[in-house]
Parts: sequence; structure tokens; C-alpha cells
Amino acid sequence: MRTAIIDIQKLKQRGERFAMVTAYDYTSAQLAERAGIPLLLVGDSLGMVVLGHATTVPVTLDNMVHHAAAVVRGTAKALVVVGDLPFLSYANVDAAVSAAGRLMQEAGVQAVKLEGGKSMAPIVRALTSLGIPVMGHLGFTPQSVHQIGLRVQGRTAAAARQLIEDADALAEAGAFAVVLELVPEPLARFLTKRLSIPTIGIGAGPGCDGQVQVWHDLLGLYDAFKPRHAKRYAEIGEATVAALRAYATDVVTNTFPTSAHASDMDIAELEAAIAAAG
Ligand code: KIV
Repeated sequence: MRTAIIDIQKLKQRGERFAMVTAYDYTSAQLAERAGIPLLLVGDSLGMVVLGHATTVPVTLDNMVHHAAAVVRGTAKALVVVGDLPFLSYANVDAAVSAAGRLMQEAGVQAVKLEGGKSMAPIVRALTSLGIPVMGHLGFTPQSVHQIGLRVQGRTAAAARQLIEDADALAEAGAFAVVLELVPEPLARFLTKRLSIPTIGIGAGPGCDGQVQVWHDLLGLYDAFKPRHAKRYAEIGEATVAALRAYATDVVTNTFPTSAHASDMDIAELEAAIAAAG
């Protein structure tokens, strides 16, 4: 059985921390599941780390469905959350239902994530009333980067109050969890205590119920931008370059492939073919 949303919520009730990581394809989803990660996020960060865009804004619903389906195929147990209904795909209730429906029916995800607070409550309510689990996303919301800039959100009393109201509204509308991105640690800690649903932090400090990180940041695969809040657990990018260099050198120096990497045939068959070919 796959991890269910209720299982994630029970982790909060038991005071157990949990990790979520982004995944964008079949192989990485399998690796994340082998590592025991209970929540995978097919984030629209794929626009940057997989597709090479400068922001998440150009990501389309087709992009999300394509990658989410691959992630779902790579998992049997993890709860797959489609990160971010992409930009403008949930501008109203009808659009949101149709976009979330595609992600659930075509890609096979178990939940969707959307960015925004109070103003998104009617959409969260509509989706959850139809049986579509929704994860919220507050603080720095990447789809609004052109409006709010890439910076910590909620530092002033007014901004913190707004975030508290937004979080309350999402929880009240039925969101099953909320990502807090680039939220000051004390505010994230307060929200985690206040809300009955799990908070999942990224750049929000250790006080959240769970943490989420972008695959490429964790594994040293993306150099265009290195977030301060990310910790590199491996240097897979460097290891990959070294491996590819070694491969290219082996080919150039004729040390790869060898006969051990090829298959043999009966020479009489070859001679017959050559004779027949003239
Ligand atoms: O798209 C994404 O990867 C995200 C995480 C940064 C939370 O939304």
C-alpha cells in the first residue's frame, strides 16, 4: 500500500519529523523510494533544474503531467505529490479542477500542491470537496517571483500576520499540509505549533514538521543557483563529469569497449555472408 495522507498527518500527531524530496523522473523516484522517503514532490522547479528555464513560470501542465507520470511509474509506496499545479493552471475553480484532474487521472498522482494563501481558499475547498488532496505553499512562492522577488517572506509584523491568516485559511479550507518556503524560523515554529496540519519547511528552519529539498540541490547537480538553505549531501555533478571524462578517454584510447562488452558469432556464418555479398 502507498503511504496515505492520513499517515503523513499521523507523523505530526506523533511528533515525528519527515523528509520530502523533489523527483522528476522514473529513476530518481525509484532511488528516493529505496531511501525510504515517504513524500515525493514533482515540483515545478523542474522548469529550472530539468528544463533550463530561469523561473518556474514557463512550466506547463503538459510538462507536469509528463514528469509526474514518470515519477509515479517509479514508485510503489511513496505518496506522490504533484508539486505545484503550474503557473496560471488554477486561476479559477474550473481551471484548477481540470488541471488537478489531469494530474490525478493521467499522471496518477495522489495529491496536488498550489501556491498562495487566503485567496486560494475557495479553490482548495473546491478541490478537497471533490476528493483531491491539496498541499498549500506559503512564504516565498516561486510562481510570484516577478512580483515578490526572491527573498524571505513574513519578517514584519504585518507580513507575519498575513502569513498566519493565510495558513489558517488553507488549513480551514482543507489543505492536508503546507509548505513554508523562506519563512523566518520563529514564525515557521509558531505556525507549526498553531496548525493541526503538518508544515513542511524549505529555508524555514528546524521547527517545521517536515522538510523538503530540491533533488538537484541535495545532490550537487545544479550550479546556476545555490540556495543558502540547501545542504549538499553528495557531489553527483562532479562525480558524473569525472565518469564521463573517463569514458571519453577510454573510447579515444581504444580501451573501451573490449571484446568482453561485445558478442561473438560463428566465423563460418560471417564468411558465408561475405561470400554471398560478393
Ligand atoms: O517546485 C518545487 O520544487 C517546490 C519546492 C521548492 C517546495 O515547490
